[in-house]
Amino acid sequence: MTVTPQQAETAPSPGAEGETVRGLRLRGVSHVYRGGVRDVVSLDPLDLDVVAGEFLVIVGPSGCGKSTLLEILAGLIRPTSGDVFIDDRRVVGPSRDRAVVFQQSTSLYPWLTVRRNVELGLRVRNLPRSERRSRADAELARVGLSEFADQWPHELSGGMQQRCQIARALAVDPPILLLDEPFGALDALTRENLQHSLREIWRETRRTVVMVTHSVEEAVLLGTRVLVMSHRPGRVVDDLRFGFVTLNSTVAEIRSRPDFVETCRTLRSQLLGL
Ligand SMILES: Nc1ncnc2c1ncn2[C@@H]1O[C@H](COP(=O)(O)OP(=O)(O)O)[C@@H](O)[C@H]1O
Ligand SMILES: [Mg+2]
Repeated sequence: MTVTPQQAETAPSPGAEGETVRGLRLRGVSHVYRGGVRDVVSLDPLDLDVVAGEFLVIVGPSGCGKSTLLEILAGLIRPTSGDVFIDDRRVVGPSRDRAVVFQQSTSLYPWLTVRRNVELGLRVRNLPRSERRSRADAELARVGLSEFADQWPHELSGGMQQRCQIARALAVDPPILLLDEPFGALDALTRENLQHSLREIWRETRRTVVMVTHSVEEAVLLGTRVLVMSHRPGRVVDDLRFGFVTLNSTVAEIRSRPDFVETCRTLRSQLLGL
């Protein structure tokens, strides 16, 4: 099942403090890691437009530059050439219009409770305490962690820590959510639960998401658009549109659909052929 770009396009996401974010624009973005024994070209010059409300998934072989690209979008590393724009603003560093979730849940602060971890981004924004708390609690409820708000991160399982990271990212209500293999280290059942939660969150909020994964199934389950990247230096070799994320079905139901199985099979053989 594919949808046209026009169908995939949705209303602009509400941004921080009511501003409206229309999308991401990359022009000639490349990256070379210097300083080692030799330079490593991790990303060939890339032009890319991501419209607001798109759920863009990036797949490709290990080492092809997916994480590099996500870190550039996050503003954590500067591209060697080219520019990233959010609407017409050039990205020069991290900003609260983008929240990032990485694979490892080590970014939770061990000396803060689960709720305080989620409140952290809101504290930076000087929100009153009562509002911080109610927003943190709402996001914890969304990821099914309400009962654990007063626990410490080390008392949570890996999957729960990951859900806590997602709640923290969502609490600041970022117009753009950046996810780098967020479920990569999780067991299959937890992963399926979080895929379900992320589908629900996207269907409810239609925020702009850019997510890296090496799972073909995950890409087809979640993406309205899937970019296939080649071996290093990364280049986009295909740009596909899917509509499975818009279905009001469980992950298990979608997985058993013949069109889903066939789509995954085709994408997998494309990746194996790279
Ligand atoms: N800090 C670094 N210094 C030098 N090379 C790096 C660094 N980080 C990543 N690379 C190289 O850049 C390429 C792309 O890396 P990365 O973006 O992490 O790929 P992916 O996330 O697709 O696995 C890889 O070949 C990797 O070895
Ligand atoms: Mg990576």
